[in-house]
Amino acid sequence: MRYLVTTALPYANGPIHLGHLLEQIQADIFVRALRMSGDDVIFICGADSHGTPIEINAHKAKLQPCHYVEQWRFAQEQSLSKYLIQFDNGYGSTHTELNQKNTEQIFKKLCNNKDIITKEIDQFFDTQANRFLPDRFIKGECPKCFSFDQYGDNCEKCGAVYNPTNLINPRSILTNETPVIRSSKHYFFKLSKYSNKINEWLNNSDVFQVEVKNSLKDWIGTGLKDWDISRDYPYFGFLIPGEINKYFYVWLDAPIGYISLSEATGRENIWIDSETKIIHFIGKDIIYFHGLFWPAILMSINYNLPSKVMVHGMLTIDGEKMSKSRNTYILADQFHSIFNPEALRYYFACKLSANIEDIDFNISDLCSRINSDLVNKIINLISRTVPLLQKNYNGKITSMEPFIVDRVCEIANSVENYYRAGQINQVIKNVIQIADISNKFLQDLSPWDASKCTAKDAHKVLNTALWSGKVCLGLLKPIIPNIAAKMENLLDLEFVNFKNVLEPLSKPVLKKYIHLFERIVA
Ligand code: 2FM
Ligand code: ZN
Repeated sequence: MRYLVTTALPYANGPIHLGHLLEQIQADIFVRALRMSGDDVIFICGADSHGTPIEINAHKAKLQPCHYVEQWRFAQEQSLSKYLIQFDNGYGSTHTELNQKNTEQIFKKLCNNKDIITKEIDQFFDTQANRFLPDRFIKGECPKCFSFDQYGDNCEKCGAVYNPTNLINPRSILTNETPVIRSSKHYFFKLSKYSNKINEWLNNSDVFQVEVKNSLKDWIGTGLKDWDISRDYPYFGFLIPGEINKYFYVWLDAPIGYISLSEATGRENIWIDSETKIIHFIGKDIIYFHGLFWPAILMSINYNLPSKVMVHGMLTIDGEKMSKSRNTYILADQFHSIFNPEALRYYFACKLSANIEDIDFNISDLCSRINSDLVNKIINLISRTVPLLQKNYNGKITSMEPFIVDRVCEIANSVENYYRAGQINQVIKNVIQIADISNKFLQDLSPWDASKCTAKDAHKVLNTALWSGKVCLGLLKPIIPNIAAKMENLLDLEFVNFKNVLEPLSKPVLKKYIHLFERIVA
């Protein structure tokens, strides 16, 4: 079986922050775990480079949009690699010739399948900025609850969803002018045609978590509308063939970017071969796109549908949405300038599960999990035993206590499946359970205390506890790959994988113990 794993493509419109990292780390852990099982995995991502906000911000930055997005793409790639996240064929972009070619070809197929129609639509136009205004560029009073300062698509106060033309006292956020209504031809994808097919697909598969599936079914139940896939000039995107001032909407060429980025790896037939499983990692804010639009397009062009769309909750900081004004908008590079990136990988692993509840980041919680669990429990099994083993037994390996070995193996055996099911918090729980059992054993027998333990028993105890520490870090390798690599080097091991992780140590431990990870202070 071959896997294609994707993460949502971050907009090339700003730096990577902790919210992005949550998903990138989640997917990277999953990919490393599959690879540790011996699976063939293609892992791709890149910058989502089109759309109105990018066009406007490039203009503000006095840059050509293509240079603007390349700067952000490069910066994002650097930040992600600091967290040990790397993609096959690098961190790409949707603004490529290949993606343009694919978008045009797919559009042509959709047209041939009679899935595209054109309609004249009325839209707000800002005469001063000389442009049509997307919903998010218009604010006004909610037509339902009359709250001020609400966006053109929905009200953050009462949750009402409406058309921008329903807003009371609408104004452009670009110029603060009252916009006028103008009509323009738009291209629509006939999403409504796919309602039944999508519904059937949802009923007969477990692609989505139950809560997600239920929301998708609710949306289908209220009736799917045809989807506007075009935008008027000025825009940064791909021109629609045959038009001079109309572009494909970014949300069409972005998921097609998944296809282009995977093709750019040089691997073939990913999207038509039945032996490849496609797995998308996304946040719950973009379920509609990945659960309705995207599968409908794939159905129309007869490409593989995703086998799994793994949806995660949003990241909050101390229980609240990340916010620039509250100074809780934490950038990847900022965190990295203070803490070890593997601290964040470990912390997120403690919190990630297969459910879609929001995930809270709290710095003292992070410190305590790193210091009390990772360092004091897990790494302790190695830092405590290696020096004694070397001092008293020349680093020689001996037999182990079967009672402990059996218990450790039993707990370790479910870890691989927890990774596959996305229950990473459960992986951590199991590993901590192994560490607790082994630390208790070490403490009870106290191999450093001749009054409690004969020299022969002490050797066995040290050996068992060290092995158990190796098992813990071996099982955590997808989460903290650098720490695991240091452990492999210290113990002179072959690369640890899920097949060999429980093997007893066989070589003498001769290398001097150096810290695998330092305690952290906030
Ligand atoms: O919501 C976002 O940040 C989008 N840039 C995600 C795109 S995912 C995919 F469809 F390309
Ligand atoms: Zn309202």
